[in-house]
Amino acid sequence: MTGPSLEVCFSPSLLTTMRDRSGYNVVVVDILRATTTICTAFGYGLASAIPVNSTEEAMEKKRQGWLVAGEENGDKLPFADFGNSPLEFRDPLLRGKEMVFCTTNGTKAIYLGKEYGQVVMASFVNHEAVCNWLNDNRKNTIILCAGWKDSFSMEDAIFAGAMADLLVNAYGFLPVCDATISSITLWNHASKSLMKTVSKSSHYLRLLGIENRKGLKYCFFPEKFRVLPGLSDGKIVDFYY
Ligand code: MLT
Repeated sequence: MTGPSLEVCFSPSLLTTMRDRSGYNVVVVDILRATTTICTAFGYGLASAIPVNSTEEAMEKKRQGWLVAGEENGDKLPFADFGNSPLEFRDPLLRGKEMVFCTTNGTKAIYLGKEYGQVVMASFVNHEAVCNWLNDNRKNTIILCAGWKDSFSMEDAIFAGAMADLLVNAYGFLPVCDATISSITLWNHASKSLMKTVSKSSHYLRLLGIENRKGLKYCFFPEKFRVLPGLSDGKIVDFYY
């Protein structure tokens, strides 16, 4: 018996090189910070989130009375209720709330990923929960790194490797491309001193003036939740709820 295939896509711009265009589970990864933040919000009981693709759409939703979270180039949108720091979302008052999310790369990857199949979101917050779900729903899988404006982001690639390591070596997924194998090698190397490695990444350095060090560290050593934010009819809901 052969397992489902596993492909890592290091940037949204590489997604279009995939041969088949549907039927996958697509795991969107934006460790700094969109998927860490979204997973944390669901960990604290958020009921649902609507991802929007532009600040104009986010502003229109705000006018309609929605709670809005979002950033542009890392900075909180001036009209938004929340920015994109995971620490802002560690708030029990989120329980049962609905909100709109707009981020520079994360929500764009979600939009792109849905053309290829079922989108779910992963981060160190829900690493095990998402791998268990993928193992229960044994479909060909793409781990889609959000990157930064279509380029490679080291922290997303390292996390993709952490997932790929578990999926390939414990759950029998088949690594069908060099990107998957490379990500596992990267993870095995980087995990020995994770903060030291990721603190050299360009987005970590970009965020230094925006996010405090506690928030940056949280993205790699977070609380753990059994949550699985996934797209259903245009809304993000928790598939474990
Ligand atoms: C994004 O979606 O591009 C990021 O999450 C940006 C950020 O760190 O706020």
